[in-house]
Amino acid sequence: MKGLVLSGGKGTRLRPLTYTGAKQLVPVANKPVLFYALEDLVEAGVPEIGIVISPETGEQVKQETGDGSKFGARFTYIMQPQPLGIAHGIKIAQDFLGGEPFILFLGDNFIRGGIVPQVNAFRHQAMDAQIILYEMNDPSSMGVAVLNGDGRVERVVEKPKQFISPYAVIGIYMFGASVFDAVNNIKPSARGELEITDTIQYLVDKGLNVRAHKLTDKWVDTGRIGDMLEANRLVLDVMEPKLDGTLDNSILEGRVVLEEGARVSNSKIRGPAIIGKRTVVENAFVGPYTAIHHGCTIRNCEIEHSIVLENSRLEDLHTRVADSLIGRNVQIKRAEGPTKTIRLMLGDFSQVGI
Ligand code: DAU
Repeated sequence: MKGLVLSGGKGTRLRPLTYTGAKQLVPVANKPVLFYALEDLVEAGVPEIGIVISPETGEQVKQETGDGSKFGARFTYIMQPQPLGIAHGIKIAQDFLGGEPFILFLGDNFIRGGIVPQVNAFRHQAMDAQIILYEMNDPSSMGVAVLNGDGRVERVVEKPKQFISPYAVIGIYMFGASVFDAVNNIKPSARGELEITDTIQYLVDKGLNVRAHKLTDKWVDTGRIGDMLEANRLVLDVMEPKLDGTLDNSILEGRVVLEEGARVSNSKIRGPAIIGKRTVVENAFVGPYTAIHHGCTIRNCEIEHSIVLENSRLEDLHTRVADSLIGRNVQIKRAEGPTKTIRLMLGDFSQVGI
């Protein structure tokens, strides 16, 4: 069995971060969200993995992810010239997949607890495809599945306008060779994409055995800031504390990770929280569910429930930063001048709450 991970697409909902980087590389607890998918596949005994990349962010994904050796895996990169749909990703990976059963994993999906039980079920029971369902109050921004009386998949619809079922189809799918016939026969949807939902519907309409596994653990599609923060919370909640950095006149409470070369002085860190390599925290408060990446400076300020990416500086702030996702090389500093003035230089599609 092989793995196919989609790491292309546009990432429009995470702008401006995705102007300069792949959305699948945005870190969750200081590790790119994509890495969790790759680790889940390896853990499920699937080390032969194709990674679909885009011309815009492909080089960056390749550089960060490498040839697979650091994951105990082998990666083959497959270029998708345009984001023509998830099923298009399968279509262009046909040579790599070589007719074998495979697991398709969308690179921005995060699942707590991994995929071992689902992969084992797919390995040992005769089926043509397996989808994983997640019950939600409002699944209208996802693919949604309707089941019949015996729990078989009857209908799958992409982002339905009206409520048809509480079951979102998560971005982890298992397919046998019959899926190639499907992706070669379906037509692009109104948004111009070869849809994964149409692919599944094609298999259902052919009377093939498409099984649904209802997920009981947590799943997050990390497309938006709130979802990134949720995935971050889920990982930080179970992280083992570790002190590889230095501490001076400071208090650590709860689960805290200080990565190599992190320096904390005159500060309080209330976990769960992670402070990245070479990051300096000085005269500061870092509150629960915060992940500060490598090379940052947090000085004379307070921050909680947030993600800060590489090399950013937060200094001399008089309000607490919360519920925030701050990009790379960002500087937030108290401005000179009248106290009621704020001075901003923000990229396109930035969002600020004051
Ligand atoms: O997250 C689960 C949902 O993922 C499913 O419920 C939907 O049925 C499915 O269509 C998909 O919906 P999204 O609107 O969230 O898909 P998105 O465009 O965000 O793409 C998902 C991932 O696949 C993302 O990491 C980018 C990558 N991708 C996407 C497209 C369209 C590619 O690599 N190439 C593509 O052409």
